[in-house]
Amino acid sequence: MGDPRLYTESTLVSDDEFDSLLPQLLEDMLDTMRHHNGAGIAAPQIGVFKRVVIFGIDKNPRYPDVRPVPLTILVNPELDATGIERAEAWEGCLSVPGMRGKVSRFQQIIYRGLSPERKNIEILADGFHARVVQHEVDHLDGILYPARIKDLKDFGFIKALEASGRIPRIEVPES
Ligand code: NI
Repeated sequence: MGDPRLYTESTLVSDDEFDSLLPQLLEDMLDTMRHHNGAGIAAPQIGVFKRVVIFGIDKNPRYPDVRPVPLTILVNPELDATGIERAEAWEGCLSVPGMRGKVSRFQQIIYRGLSPERKNIEILADGFHARVVQHEVDHLDGILYPARIKDLKDFGFIKALEASGRIPRIEVPES
């Protein structure tokens, strides 16, 4: 957070770039996401300003409220809310380490994009799955989650938030 490039809009992956850029980019993104135990990552987080996101989370006792999400690679993603219902939950971000903030997101979305093999992907998602996709696509538009926090009292260091007793536990995967 603070690097001005993270606040810029990433550009679409061109047809040529599927072959020339994508294989190495995906390897680097997966390495980074796994190294940090993240639930998701967007290309600009590793300094490549292209519209590529990866997300997925295995069943994990640390995150009892989070249903598993299959590992998904989306190139040139788009999303639409299916309704007006929103939900608030705590988020963390690999680009904002050690902190958490409460963010309102659409409860249910449809997202579309291309797989690395150029196959069309279209998925209806809700809950954490919908949240992580909205978080990652925000990265492609130069938006970090703190910009979406309504009350900055809902933003802070993990240790302070846990110690405050205001919230029992903040086990939220970063993305
Ligand atoms: Ni993030």
